[in-house]
Amino acid sequence: MAFSFDPFDFAVHADPYPFYRALRDEHPVYWSEGARCFVLSRHADVIAALNDVPRFSNTGGNVIDDSRAKLGRTVGSMDPPRHTAMRALVNDAFNRRQVARERAFIEAMVERLTATLPAEFDLVRDVTSPLAGAVMAHLLGVEGADLAEFKRLIDISMYRDPATRARTPDGEAAQSELFAITARQVERRRAAPGEDMISALLGMELEPDSVVWMARAVFGAGFESTSSFLANGALALMRHPGQALLLAAEPARLPDAIEEILRYETPAQRFARTLTADATMHGVTMPAAAKVLVMYGSANRDERAFDAPERFDITRKPARHLGFGLGPHFCAGAALARMVGQVFFAAMAPRLARCVPLPGPLAWAHSPTFRSLASLRVHQTQAL
Ligand code: HEM
Repeated sequence: MAFSFDPFDFAVHADPYPFYRALRDEHPVYWSEGARCFVLSRHADVIAALNDVPRFSNTGGNVIDDSRAKLGRTVGSMDPPRHTAMRALVNDAFNRRQVARERAFIEAMVERLTATLPAEFDLVRDVTSPLAGAVMAHLLGVEGADLAEFKRLIDISMYRDPATRARTPDGEAAQSELFAITARQVERRRAAPGEDMISALLGMELEPDSVVWMARAVFGAGFESTSSFLANGALALMRHPGQALLLAAEPARLPDAIEEILRYETPAQRFARTLTADATMHGVTMPAAAKVLVMYGSANRDERAFDAPERFDITRKPARHLGFGLGPHFCAGAALARMVGQVFFAAMAPRLARCVPLPGPLAWAHSPTFRSLASLRVHQTQAL
């Protein structure tokens, strides 16, 4: 059967890596008929595209099927110089909130969520999702929101109808509801400002709508990707108990382990760009206006850039991984995400060495962008 790659394919969600290898080796510039976009899979090519900012534009959105309503309103869907100005505000809002101040809150949340886990539990539902949601809510100053409901809405809005490749009507309704919840939170903060990020953004005299879009984008970007990062890392450590034991015995390895998790099971696998002019790579010309997928998940498994990339090895130093992207759109929340990872894996590594996923297929989300577990049921083989 002829090779085919489609980011909407359930077989790709189940195990994207054999597809990536074939793409890198045989089709470094691939046209995906299903998704109607070009696909770049080699580390060097993804970096070349990300460095060619004028040609590989974000104005058509940074995910393959971005909602039109979002375009030009979030940092992810703007180019410099507009992006530079907005991104400076986002960075400033992060600085004012001082990410380091989140550590005590994160530690308390991890302690609370992991103190009394039963012999069998769902790591995503019971730990990583509530943790990521609570951290984002705390950062932004969202209070009194039902985070489980928020996650439910994110899951519905992430799902793509296999027939239409679009959000379902429920997914569209969930998107609107997420926006409405954020708008209410922004109004709350306008009436009673605090030390949180929404208050910082409100202090910047942006259009009222821009604050809501920015807060919504930060919440969405941070919640799903952080939860996936923690769950994907926990899965890798459970599947490699020797690495979990090493991490538990030598916590100084945490920073390298976190980078290796981001490389090995990259939470945000693929982002999109739109060409402003023709671009030729490996003898293939991609015409202006075409969409291009830059596949961070594949670049991070490229044997041209990493030794034995299929091996999960927390002792390597995968400095050039693209788990947070590269260039002007490099993840705004990277420092916070790394800190959450440090606290979570420091607490969980000894336990993960004694946990196994329950048998059965893994529940990977049907998303063209994220490698995200909707659920990860786990059995502790030995009480701590
Ligand atoms: C481990 C968790 C995370 C991962 C793997 C991740 C990954 C990424 C990646 C790959 C990009 C680049 C997208 C592109 O190339 O178009 C990005 C952008 C972004 N991320 Fe994250 N992210 C994480 C956590 C967070 C958190 C916690 C926040 C907020 C608190 C956040 C906010 C953002 C924003 C606002 C952007 C857009 C930046 C821009 O376009 O200038 N992310 N993220």
